[in-house]
Amino acid sequence: MKVLLATEKPFASNAVNEIQHIIESNGFQFDKIEKYTEKSQLIDAIKDADAVIIRSDIIDKEVIDAAPQLKLIVRAGAGYDNVDLSAATEHNICVMNTPGQNANAVAELVFGMLIYVLRNYFDGSTGEELRGRRLGLYAFGNVAKMVAKIARGFDMPVYAYSPIMTEDDLRKEGEYGVIPANSAEELFDNSDIVSLHMPLLEETRQCVNYNLLSRLPQDGILVNSARKEVVNEDDLMRIMEERPNFRYITDIKPDKHEEFAAKFPKRYFATPKKSGAQTSEANINAGLAAARQIVAFFKKGDETFRVNPK
Ligand code: 3PG
Repeated sequence: MKVLLATEKPFASNAVNEIQHIIESNGFQFDKIEKYTEKSQLIDAIKDADAVIIRSDIIDKEVIDAAPQLKLIVRAGAGYDNVDLSAATEHNICVMNTPGQNANAVAELVFGMLIYVLRNYFDGSTGEELRGRRLGLYAFGNVAKMVAKIARGFDMPVYAYSPIMTEDDLRKEGEYGVIPANSAEELFDNSDIVSLHMPLLEETRQCVNYNLLSRLPQDGILVNSARKEVVNEDDLMRIMEERPNFRYITDIKPDKHEEFAAKFPKRYFATPKKSGAQTSEANINAGLAAARQIVAFFKKGDETFRVNPK
C-alpha cells in the first residue's frame, strides 16, 4: 500500500518528516515527489499509488486515468477545485480535504497584505490605518471566521454575507461579532474593504462583478485570498480605471497580472507566489491531518471530509 505526497509547492521539511512517520508507522509505504515541473513526472509517480496527498496540484482525468490503484486523494487544504471530482467518482476514488487546517495562516496574510499596502509598501511615506474601516467578508467559512476574529483587534466593524447561511445563522456565530448582510449587494454597500472567502464553484465563478464592485466607496479595497476565478477581471480593470483610488490586493495572480501591475503599480498588489497557507504551522496542521485521514480511511473506512459524491 503506497501513499504518495505530491507537492509542486513543498511543505516544510518538519511537516514532511511527520507525515512520513505517520504513514510508515501505520505500515504503509511512503513516497514523495516535490517541486516537479512536468505533469509527466506526477503521472509517473502516481501510477502505483493507493493514496495521494496534494496541495494545489492538478489532479485531472489524465492523472486519475494513470493511477489504476488509487483509492483516496486528500487535498491538504481547503479548496479542491484542482481535483476532477467526477473523474474520481467514476473511478471509485474518494476525495477529501482538510478544512480549517490552514485557515489561520490565510487570515493572518489578509492583514499582512492590507497593512503592507496601506503603509505604502513601507516606503516611508504617510500611510493609512485599519481602525474603524468597515470590513465585509464575502462567505463565512473557516478563513473568514479567523479574519473576523483578528479584525476585532483592529477595531474594525465586520459585516458578513454567506450565500449558504441565513442572517440568523450568522447572528448565531456570536463569538465573531459580525453584522449580517442579507445579500452580496448589501455587503458591498456597507463595506470599505471586502475580503473574499468563497470556494471556487460554478456558482461563485466571476461572482465579484462590476455591479458589486461599484457599490464600494471610491477608495474601496478588494482583498482576494480565495481564488482568482471568483473575480471578473474585466470588471475589476474597469473599476480601477474609473476610480483613481480603488485598490486590489491579492494572494493569487490574476490572468491579467501584467496589465494590472503596469497600469496600477501603487493600487494593485499581488504576492509574488501564493503564500496564504505557506507557514510551517499550516503545513503541519494540514499535512498531518491528511496523513491521519488516510490511515483512518484504510484502517477504519472513515470517510469524514469526503467531498465527492459516491
Ligand atoms: C487552500 O485551498 O487550502 C489554500 O488555497 C492553500 O493552497 P496551497 O496548499 O496550494 O497553498
